[in-house]
Amino acid sequence: MPDLFSPYALKGVTLRNRIAMSPMTMYHSVDGKMNDFHTMYLGARAAGGFGLIFPEQIAITPDGRTSVHCAGIYNDDQIEGHRKVTSMIKDMGGVPAIQLGHTGRKGSEVPPFEGGYQLAPDHPDGWQCVGPSPIPYGGDHPYPVHELTRDEIRGLHRSYAAAARRALEAGYEWLEMHYAHGYLGASFFSPLANRRTDDYGGSLQNRARFHLEALDAVREVWPERFPLTMRLGSDDLHPDGVQFDDAVQAIGWMREHGLDLADLSLGFNTDAMVDPPMGNAGFMVDRAARVKKEVGIPVAASWNLGIPENADAVIRQEKIDLVLLGRPALANPHWPVWAARELGVEDAFSLVPRDWGWWLANFRGHDASIGLPPAKVFEEDPREIA
Ligand SMILES: Cc1cc2nc3c(=O)[nH]c(=O)nc-3n(C[C@H](O)[C@H](O)[C@H](O)COP(=O)(O)O)c2cc1C
Repeated sequence: MPDLFSPYALKGVTLRNRIAMSPMTMYHSVDGKMNDFHTMYLGARAAGGFGLIFPEQIAITPDGRTSVHCAGIYNDDQIEGHRKVTSMIKDMGGVPAIQLGHTGRKGSEVPPFEGGYQLAPDHPDGWQCVGPSPIPYGGDHPYPVHELTRDEIRGLHRSYAAAARRALEAGYEWLEMHYAHGYLGASFFSPLANRRTDDYGGSLQNRARFHLEALDAVREVWPERFPLTMRLGSDDLHPDGVQFDDAVQAIGWMREHGLDLADLSLGFNTDAMVDPPMGNAGFMVDRAARVKKEVGIPVAASWNLGIPENADAVIRQEKIDLVLLGRPALANPHWPVWAARELGVEDAFSLVPRDWGWWLANFRGHDASIGLPPAKVFEEDPREIA
């Protein structure tokens, strides 16, 4: 039976444990480049023991960014900054992963901490957003959306492939497509955003065509030895939107097109979500477990899994293969080390670089000298997550 600290092998890649840092947009880029901030922030999490480390949604085109402060990999000048990040992550024992995305009708924003609203296309920091149909997201994202032509869709698939080629050159070893949270892929999948009458709209098969073609385009340049995964918006939480059953069926098709693991998420494709579960512990886990069982594909999930016993339990119960942590990774770069001590893992400090691990394990007069609560031994049965 695996636990949170069992290595995880997928294709030719082996992670040192089942803990991944979930992608989080940081608004720290200039000209779409990764810089010292990213090397520091991501290197610290790798040094803290995360097995797989995602920076953030990385845009495949300039208008695929969330804001002008967001990172991309749409030109060769951007490769160098990514390379520094991947080499730091590898030096610290982690595996670097990239999440490629396009924000579609939710782009052209100001950062959340400045209001998160959309800027008009003629604003110096804004642009014309695109989508499958000319339907604005609404609310504080009110501006007209350009309906992508078939040629433009083909161009986007070429951009995905070009971005994947650069990602490989930059040293990433795991590639995820971001098709959740109301961004472009999620818009194609959802009847709320996609009203097309050609073969990219209407039936479920047509609404998944954008995904399958993108997977095909990326797989041509992304080697078989490295995992290709997708974060899928599996439920719009709206009666007229994507239903979870749709996602289960479409992931089956995606598997046939080279998908190695499904990273399940939901919501944020409309402000009118019905009963959003975002306050519930581990609410994605049972949904992901259903995909694992019915589609027979490895799965990952995030959302409220920051309590070590819970994260360990869902791996031990073999409901999911990887735990993704977002906010816990922001709050505590050493979450894996802390969790290892909480769960009674022997030699928790072997997760940090060898020299300072030695000091923490050996140079101690009192537990308080290392600034962590005394490790408690994991005796009880893992908690079931409701
Ligand atoms: C600051 C911040 C930025 C995020 N940016 C992204 C992103 O770029 N791509 C993505 O797929 N999810 C993004 N998310 C969602 C997280 O990856 C994660 O799925 C979510 O926070 C739930 O996990 P948690 O409960 O461990 O935080 C973001 C979340 C936060 C808090």
